[in-house]
Amino acid sequence: MKYDFDRVYDRSKSDSAKWCEVKNIFGREDVIPMWVADMDFPTAAPIVEALEQRAAHPFYGYTWPCDSLTEAVVERVKRKYDWKIEPEWVVYTPGTIPALNVAVRALSHPGDEVILQEPVYYPFFGVVKGSGCQIASSRLKLARGRYTMDFGDLEAKFKSPEGRMPDHSRIRALILCNPHNPIGRVWDKDELTKLGEIVIGSGAIVISDEIHCELLYKGYRHTPFAALSEEFAKNSIVCMAPSKTFNLPGLEASSIIIPDKKLRDRFNDIKSGVVPGLNVFGLTAMEAAYRHGDEWLGQLLDYLQGSLETAMKWFSERIPEIRVIKPQGTYLLWLDCRRLGMDDRMLQKFMREEARVGLDDGFMFGEGGSGFQRMNIACPRSILREALGRIEGAVKRAVRK
Ligand SMILES: Cc1ncc(COP(=O)(O)O)c(C=O)c1O
Repeated sequence: MKYDFDRVYDRSKSDSAKWCEVKNIFGREDVIPMWVADMDFPTAAPIVEALEQRAAHPFYGYTWPCDSLTEAVVERVKRKYDWKIEPEWVVYTPGTIPALNVAVRALSHPGDEVILQEPVYYPFFGVVKGSGCQIASSRLKLARGRYTMDFGDLEAKFKSPEGRMPDHSRIRALILCNPHNPIGRVWDKDELTKLGEIVIGSGAIVISDEIHCELLYKGYRHTPFAALSEEFAKNSIVCMAPSKTFNLPGLEASSIIIPDKKLRDRFNDIKSGVVPGLNVFGLTAMEAAYRHGDEWLGQLLDYLQGSLETAMKWFSERIPEIRVIKPQGTYLLWLDCRRLGMDDRMLQKFMREEARVGLDDGFMFGEGGSGFQRMNIACPRSILREALGRIEGAVKRAVRK
């Protein structure tokens, strides 16, 4: 089946956070919303069919993920990443942020520290603080348009001058974002191995948020952190979900892979009674996506590749004042607007009121985010072109007067 990603739909009357909250968030109705990570494309037909079939069976009682769902998760992870996981390692949560909250609470005591690699997806800050922990920031390094991890800083955080983990260290975990939102890096095996050697070698746990792992541009491959070694598997929690890949975040269904039994039991203890399991439509959609969604996904990835190329060309040829950090994965563009010479408030006002595009402000992503904006390009290309044209016009008026 051929999907039409160019078709424009009106989502403004469908309880869409992205489209219905425009006035509240951006202060005016005429901005194009390109903020929250949600796509303006309908999901795959087999997922819709599975949901329709399930809705037609009018029993919406308590649900329990059946074996065939877990088989679908296990098979997908093996097929996509050659990672063999056991069915009992999989725990389900209604979304990834709840899983991160449970994970941090399971691993820490109030006052402990959790490392975040900023700039990073801003709800991570709430996860750490809401769990009563402190954020230990290890800022990513940006050089020649490419971000890398600061291994020197990470080592310094864990090791005393004698090379040991200081006895008083309160660092319990690092939340990894792979692919990394907002900068779009798909961390490679060497980087992940080095990270794991530092963090796990020092006795802390890696909580790896891999929600964007199926949204990769040509030439990139995802490595699940825990697939790298048995030691890493025993000391990590990997969060996956079909929500970003298949545009299902409103169904709230994530699969959390926790190979170590003690860690899994602890996670389930904290989760129990507070975080519910999957709802009937979430689990139906997850299984249909993993079993029958790949034809749609292949076409989506081709479309996103074309949109990325359109946007990259447009910025470099027509809006050179804004530099795009070329993403390796995700449909999010991290725009370096520092050459516009505006402070964060001016830049926010400029994007909303002059360009009339609704982007996420870089400063929300923490250290290193000031002067940047995040733009979601998962929309029909006519809307993308309209947004790029608006930014171009506003930059011309403001900078080239
Ligand atoms: C890195 C990352 N983690 C988690 C989420 C949200 O996950 P959920 O809606 O499943 O809680 C997002 C959404 O954009 C994200 O980018």
